[in-house]
Amino acid sequence: MKKIASVVGARPNFIKLAPIYKQMNNSKYTNSFEHIIVHTGQHYDFKLSEIFFSEFSLPIPDYNLDVGSTTPCIQIAEMIKKLEHLFQALKINIVLVYGDTNSTFAGALAATKSSLNVAHVESGLRSFDRKMPEEINRILTDHISNILYAPTKTALGNLKAENIQGEIINTGDLSVEIIRDAESKISNSLILEELKLEPKNYYLFTLHRSENTNPQCLNSIIEIFNQIPESTIVFPIHPRTTKILEENNLYNKLKKCRNVILIDPVGFLDFINLIKFANKVITDSGGTQKEAYLLNTPCITIRNNTEWIETINEGWNTLTGIDVEKTTNAIINWFPPKVSSRNSIFGDGKTSKTILDHLRKLLE
Ligand code: UD1
Repeated sequence: MKKIASVVGARPNFIKLAPIYKQMNNSKYTNSFEHIIVHTGQHYDFKLSEIFFSEFSLPIPDYNLDVGSTTPCIQIAEMIKKLEHLFQALKINIVLVYGDTNSTFAGALAATKSSLNVAHVESGLRSFDRKMPEEINRILTDHISNILYAPTKTALGNLKAENIQGEIINTGDLSVEIIRDAESKISNSLILEELKLEPKNYYLFTLHRSENTNPQCLNSIIEIFNQIPESTIVFPIHPRTTKILEENNLYNKLKKCRNVILIDPVGFLDFINLIKFANKVITDSGGTQKEAYLLNTPCITIRNNTEWIETINEGWNTLTGIDVEKTTNAIINWFPPKVSSRNSIFGDGKTSKTILDHLRKLLE
């Protein structure tokens, strides 16, 4: 039987794998190919990895490469070395990679150097900011993939503008089915009660990108929190952010902000629940911008650019950078349009089926 390997390694990869894995269980596909899950080990903390496998009922990965945290070059090199060996040993036919993490790029490079087909889920996204490690991963992955699953019209246009060689397919975005599924289970999340939060009476804040986790940006963030002392802010902290706050003696300064509820990273259902009932979301994450849009929660993106330009065009997302005045002003004064004409900018929720039907045909 033909074999497809999904290479995942970081939190956003696991989230995208979930609907694909669920759809794979359809006998139409199980009769056509075997699916193997390879975890690179990029994320290894329970709260960034294992919790997602249990929440999404994903099986224990067939292989875990245990690369862990180190410099990006060593991390990617370790992944490629181990993946090349694994792909050969297992006689894989197609490698599926997701999003824009180091694991995504490593999976694509190892596959292409092993003369295998590479299919990229969520291809064509661009922030046009090459300081972002994810932007480099996206560009490189797209240019070496031979199947490109583009989630939006903008992504499709970006791929065409770069004269990408592979086959490009407009699939819509997996987030539509991911959010639908999460909303149906949201009553299982007790996070609002646990944190004593009133719906629509708090802001959800996240920050983890490498270009933003520096003392200057972190000081600005603390300044923003101090500008709105009466507003409750929930801040699930990524381990990278915690580490840099501690190294720069900023963790204690942040803890002095009495309006901020600092918590560990939370599982997916809790996170979706927190987005859905937040007054606004303030974030530098890509996925969170989409999730906020789909849950009708206004989003303030503390970056100067976004890959999800459609959410800005529709008026539900605004870019402020990490600028104290602009961000504080947006928190207090900015609102999305009252009557929103919701275009289905992320497709009709059938993305996983479109992708798997395409893969099945390819393997016939
Ligand atoms: C990665 C992705 C990013 C994604 C994010 C979601 C890349 C380049 N970036 O960023 O696109 O939005 O995941 O979380 O792939 N660490 C831990 N425990 C872990 C993993 C990481 O403590 O389980 C710490 C380590 O100190 C590490 C740092 O976080 O040095 C950064 O980890 P890394 O995997 O390089 O990238 P993320 O910031 O998690």
